[in-house]
Amino acid sequence: MNTAAAQKEIERLTALVRYYNTQYYQHSRSEISDYAFDQLLAQLTQLENQFPALRAKASPTEQVGEAPSRNFKTIVHQYPMLSLSNTYSAGEIHEFLKRIQKILPNEPIEFFCELKFDGVAVSLIYEQGMLKNGITRGDGEKGDDITQNVKTIKTIPTAIMHLNTPPTFEVRGEVFMPRAHFASLNKKRQAQGQASLANPRNAASGTLKMLDPNAVAERALDGYMYNLIADDLKTHETGIGLLGKWGFNVSSTYQKCKTIDQVLAYITYWETKKDSLPVDVDGIVIKINSIAQQKKLGATAKSPRWAIAYKYKPASARTVLAAITYQVGRTGAITPVAELQPIHLAGTMVKRASVHNANEIKRLNLHEQDTVYIQKSGEIIPKITGIDVAKRQPDSKPIRFITHCPACKTPLVRATDEAIYYCPNTKHCTPQIIGSLWHFVHRKAMNIDSIGHKTIDLLFHKGLVRTPADLYALCYQDLAPLEGFQDQAIKNLLQGIKNSKRMPFTKVLFGLGIRHVGETAAEKLAQYFKNIEALAKANVEALIATPEVGEKITNSVVAYFQDVDHVQLIESLKKVGVTLAINNKATTQLHQLFFKKSFVVSGTFQNFSRAAVKALIKAHGGKVLSAISSNLDYLLAGDNMGPIKLAKAKKLGIPMLSEAMFIQMIPQHVAWLHFHKYTIFPKWWLVKILHSCAAHDFF
Ligand code: IVH
Repeated sequence: MNTAAAQKEIERLTALVRYYNTQYYQHSRSEISDYAFDQLLAQLTQLENQFPALRAKASPTEQVGEAPSRNFKTIVHQYPMLSLSNTYSAGEIHEFLKRIQKILPNEPIEFFCELKFDGVAVSLIYEQGMLKNGITRGDGEKGDDITQNVKTIKTIPTAIMHLNTPPTFEVRGEVFMPRAHFASLNKKRQAQGQASLANPRNAASGTLKMLDPNAVAERALDGYMYNLIADDLKTHETGIGLLGKWGFNVSSTYQKCKTIDQVLAYITYWETKKDSLPVDVDGIVIKINSIAQQKKLGATAKSPRWAIAYKYKPASARTVLAAITYQVGRTGAITPVAELQPIHLAGTMVKRASVHNANEIKRLNLHEQDTVYIQKSGEIIPKITGIDVAKRQPDSKPIRFITHCPACKTPLVRATDEAIYYCPNTKHCTPQIIGSLWHFVHRKAMNIDSIGHKTIDLLFHKGLVRTPADLYALCYQDLAPLEGFQDQAIKNLLQGIKNSKRMPFTKVLFGLGIRHVGETAAEKLAQYFKNIEALAKANVEALIATPEVGEKITNSVVAYFQDVDHVQLIESLKKVGVTLAINNKATTQLHQLFFKKSFVVSGTFQNFSRAAVKALIKAHGGKVLSAISSNLDYLLAGDNMGPIKLAKAKKLGIPMLSEAMFIQMIPQHVAWLHFHKYTIFPKWWLVKILHSCAAHDFF
């Protein structure tokens, strides 16, 4: 290649890599696979090495990550947060070792292999055992202050319950969204007519950048910590051991290796096993175990010389598209699904793949009977990533998105700013009615656990239930003739419906299934308007003034209450006694951890006063009873509890909780309650914490 051609190519590759970096880091979007991106970067690096004078200023080959965002305070990293160089072959691992041996001739080398978790890197700064800052990698030099968001992650300790931690230390690790949470988040988004998120990594990255820590908490992020930076550490292994001891979440999948063969065996072992883990893993990281050797090896501008990543090529397969089918959701949203000729992929037989929406069909330019590439990228159901156009039959027609609802044949509609088509026949389209009923009863809404999918189907098809209000009119005689309904099942079902009248207003509001009103929006609206009458009367200005409620939700709420059927539904729910207003007790509930659960508290406790235990149970929605009966959910057994109570609980088979089990159950933000046991914490801290808890209505 001559210099002019090289210059053109370097400019093209630099622009492309910059573009994909911006998409990835600023917008949490992956437009191409990691593998394809790494290929681009490798081409660019190679050309730059060949023509060093042509390297662009601030070339992306020398940069780490992204520029810090304007939404968060910027914090300068104490030690740069570098990236890792990626390899895809055993040969490159041998080269890695050769490079090391050149710098450390005749020194014995020990490797420490870990899985490479596919999430977002974070740095955690601890001072005097307390989490001071959570920081994103940013551009490697400085990152975003995401302390409040990090604090919502249950497995990241905000205080270290251990005496021998150094006064200050830093922990680095990967924050991720477990696959199962990702799948349910996308399901929820689809049900609310929102676009699906591409993969768990993007979901985690987008979540960490949210401005409301409460919304972050709902996303249930998790994290594995993989690096301790502290004085006097001799090996990486010791650091990992200490992290585990201090209460950090460390994946037990690591392995110390003495030879490259052992490293390669580790790689092979996890290549298939990784798919059964709850989190996405995109490769492994090979680190030099000795910290003294790490220091001698040092780093380039972008990555340390003492570590390297081996990336797995994403599992992909080729098969034939048999058909596109369409599912109708509760909101009428139409989701296309690709029905495939079954094929094995990463340990499972794949028969279906998601195509998300009409835009995706267009983007892929999908034709009938196309040969398609499918890939698993964290989602339970794989997705189509490309098409083998060479295999397309000349007479194959492009897939046209359906124009009518597959269930009720109503013409579909699409709002200009949305990717999703809807069936507008909300009131008479069977899957929508059944979907809405299911949404009302399901765990996160009215939590009527005596009613499952099958029961909803049956009640609807027998003509007994069409709206949520009909549930409350059901009686024993209605259910007795139904197949499979025995005496106890009927009683449970009716009791479950009756109990649901006590569910807080927020849950009812969410259960109504107003389009775009998810759990968070329902919570905000309920808190702001306090009761359904005020909400129903609210105009656009009032709604938009609600914290975190935007135009979409506003319009949807206004439209909902303009519908006479909805007004009638609310009236009926009110008549039967469903909670349609905030009650003050409910507002101070921390969350529904112990909702409907009854406790008897007996004996004395090491870490709490009895009053504090009771306050905690109540604050989390539970009830405290004084006598043991067969309906009791838990006996919280402290030291020296009365022998009569103990015997009675045992006889009735009541589950017993020890103090330690109870502490495990409650979320981390109350862990301070057992601080006083540890002299390491100065008293004024405790006082400060007590004050801040009181200020937040903790009790
Ligand atoms: S060590 C100098 N260990 O991979 C970098 N990184 O580019 C040291 N990652 O986003 C990182 N799992 O957050 C290390 N077990 C692991 C990891 C890991 C995932 C991420 C890291 C960074 C990327 C490296």
